[in-house]
Order: sequence, then structure tokens, then C-alpha cells
Amino acid sequence: NWSMDDFIEDAIANIKETVGDKKVLLGLSGGVDSSVVAVLLHRAIGDQLISVFVDHGLLRKNEAQQVLKALGDDFGLNIDFVDASELFLGKLKGVTDPETKRKIIGKEFIDTFSTEARKFDDVDFLAQGTLYTDVIESGTDTAQTIKSHHNVGGLPDDLKFKLIEPLNKLFKDEVRELGEKLGMPKALVWRQPFPGPGLAIRIIGEVTPERLRMVRDSDAILRDEFAKAGLNKTVWQYFTALPGIKSVGVMGDERTYDEAVNIRAVTSVDGMTAEFAEVPWEVLGKVSKRIVDEVAGVNRVLYDITGKPPATIEYE
Ligand code: XMP
Repeated sequence: NWSMDDFIEDAIANIKETVGDKKVLLGLSGGVDSSVVAVLLHRAIGDQLISVFVDHGLLRKNEAQQVLKALGDDFGLNIDFVDASELFLGKLKGVTDPETKRKIIGKEFIDTFSTEARKFDDVDFLAQGTLYTDVIESGTDTAQTIKSHHNVGGLPDDLKFKLIEPLNKLFKDEVRELGEKLGMPKALVWRQPFPGPGLAIRIIGEVTPERLRMVRDSDAILRDEFAKAGLNKTVWQYFTALPGIKSVGVMGDERTYDEAVNIRAVTSVDGMTAEFAEVPWEVLGKVSKRIVDEVAGVNRVLYDITGKPPATIEYE
């Protein structure tokens, strides 16, 4: 009779035996899988685990701070935090093509992580939050493909690690159960999906500091109001995006010519297909009012009523 307690005990014993007195590196993204692996490993080997957290500057409002607090302060993980936001924003300057944006972010991510990894020369292992479904999708030879939220290849040749993937027999719901058993906060364990390239693929056109602020602040308002209305429990994924439309508006006696914000809220099981969520008008109204009141540069709020297919959940 399989129980999560047995799993934890076995996993910890296995990790200890495999790792011995060596060091383990882990790429922390703030997502469920990498966070749960980090906490599990930390329980097994403590400070022999070094978690590298690269902030590409495209995270949601306060996200980096929340991860640092929950995993660094509260769980005592040894986190190597790299604020690379300036670097990423610089590389994205003037870039508008969706695929090019994704490629730049993926490449910079691997480069930044690799530079960091080279600083620790006594590391033997790389831990990853590979799930059972990732194993099936990529074939059994996971050593050949580094799990990545950026769909980029593996690390450069000079970085050779042995992989540790303690979640590779688990499904997503089991990983969440494991996270709860390990005492992790609900906000982390039940976090909605968030793409590796982050807010960049929710900004159609150029990613500028100003446009990042608009998508980030409007997203924070949306999440706040959805949580107040209890919709965070029923809607699978919800966020705002900048569709890149400027339109004429009016404020006081002034005409404005500002950006629009799109609200995206979908129900789904696995992200492969999705339906737009039937959000009460009242909630949409509140979100809309708060966005135009609180986010400078936005004068219009739209609700996306397209399913997947034919649309995707994200915008790029
Ligand atoms: P789409 O937009 O393709 O998204 O309908 C389906 C699900 O996948 C997420 N998504 C990503 N996740 N890296 C990720 O880790 C990515 O590059 C990426 N692109 C999309 C998206 O948020 C949705 O949950």
C-alpha cells in the first residue's frame, strides 16, 4: 500500500546514498516541480544542495521575493540568487518576433545558469524536477535532455553532471501532495502554470520596462481580485497580456492614446485544450476598473473569449 510517507522516507534514503558527501546543483524556477525537489533534497542533504535561482526580470509581481522568502528564509535553503533582469531586458530591446524572443530568453537562461554553475567546481550532481509525464514525453533517456521551461537543449559540454530526478515516477497531483507533506506553503504548491519566458510572451511586440510594468501590475490586480472572488480555486490559469493595441480614450477633458490590457482566464485539465472561463461580470468589471485606475498608460481592458484550439493559452 503506497503512501506518501513511505515515498519520502525512501527518496531521502536514496538521495543520501547516491550523493554521499558530494554537492548537488539545482535550477530553481519558483515553479512547483523545482521547488518541491529543492525542499526534498534539502531535507536529505541540507547545505550540500545549492539552488541557483536566475531572475530574468520577467517574473510576476513580487515573485522572486516570495520564492526567496518561502524557500530561503523559511526552509533555510542555500539559494544562489542571480538578478539578471538588466541583462535580459537589454537583449530583448527592439525585438518583436515571438520566436526570436523565446530563443533569446532560452539562450540567456542557459548561459547565465552555466556561468553560475562554473563557479562551483566541486559539484557532481544536477537535480531536476522531472515528472513521470516529462519522462514519457521525452523518451526514457532523460540524461540527454535537460528539463527546461524554455525548450532549449542541454548545458554546454564542459558542464558534466550526474542527474538526480527524484520525482520522475510521480504525476503532478502527487508532486503537490508531496509538497504539502513537506510543509510547503499552499501558494507554492498550488501555483498556476507559468511559462519559462515569463511575462515576455504576454507582451505582444517589444518588451520595455514600461510595458513590463503594465502587464505585471495588471496581472497582480487580476490575481488579487480572482483570489477574493474564490476564482483561483476553479479557474485553471489566469493572467493579463498586452495585445499591443493602442487606442483613443478619454480622461477628464483629455484625450488619451494608450495601451489595452487583455484578460485571459481559462479552464483546462492539462493545458492541451482549454475553454475560456465564465467569469462573473461583476468580477471582470472590478478588475477592469482597478486596472484603468491603477495602471498608468492603460485606457482599455478586453476579455479574451477564445478557446484552445484555435487560440493558444499564451499570446506568443
Ligand atoms: P499554450 O500557450 O501553448 O500553453 O496554449 C499551454 C500551457 O503551457 C504553458 N507554456 C509554457 N510553459 N515554457 C513553459 O514551461 C514555455 O515556454 C511555455 N509556453 C507556454 C502555458 O502557460 C500553458 O499553461
